[in-house]
Amino acid sequence: MNFYVMTLFPDMIDSCMNESIIGRAVEKGILSIKAINIRDYTLDKHRKVDDYPYGGGAGMLMAADPVVRTWEHICEEIAGNRKEESAEKKPKVVYLTPWGKRFDQSAARGLAKEEDLVLLCGHYEGIDERALEILKPDFYSIGDYVLTGGELPAMVMMDTISRLIPGVLNNDDSAVYESFNENLLEHPQYTRPEEYRGMKVPEVLLSGHHANVEKWKKERSLERTLKYRPDLLK
Ligand code: ADE
Repeated sequence: MNFYVMTLFPDMIDSCMNESIIGRAVEKGILSIKAINIRDYTLDKHRKVDDYPYGGGAGMLMAADPVVRTWEHICEEIAGNRKEESAEKKPKVVYLTPWGKRFDQSAARGLAKEEDLVLLCGHYEGIDERALEILKPDFYSIGDYVLTGGELPAMVMMDTISRLIPGVLNNDDSAVYESFNENLLEHPQYTRPEEYRGMKVPEVLLSGHHANVEKWKKERSLERTLKYRPDLLK
């Protein structure tokens, strides 16, 4: 999977996405994450990316042209990398905005099937509508709150999607057996020591009885889901 992040703050992406599990997957060549500075695609000498909104209103808007030019550059790069048959196909673009549809685990599963994914990070009060008409993105929000820009949501999305890609996690099973599969939260888990500050690991987990262990896990998952996220059981 190749991520292309259109942003005014590429350092934010570069400094966060080269660590830990994601960093290792990038090193192994399973993922690539490229942050592209929209400001590099301005044509004026002041490298201006924003302007006042027509009709008035608070704050500044990102102008259409640098956004569209950045996208065109990415499309050309992708077409050059792809095999001939799919070179014409435009990559999926996601625009991060608080008014987008809610990004969740099922959206992540869908997006993980893409070969290339372009993430457009907004700033200021939004983007000139004409850029969105040209890029035709899917609109996603990571929650009902307003952040200062799309970089954090883009990183949340990339992290969530990446761990679903085969080979990114060491043990492929861990992408399956976790919260939000079958709409259940994860059961409680324990590691050594067997007793910690007087609290013991549940006996059944030490029993080696596979069926009983599975039954215990399922029951605890249900219990936890009922307590913390009963909406998932509907
Ligand atoms: N940009 C600002 N706030 C956002 C949010 N909650 N989700 C996605 N993009 C955003």
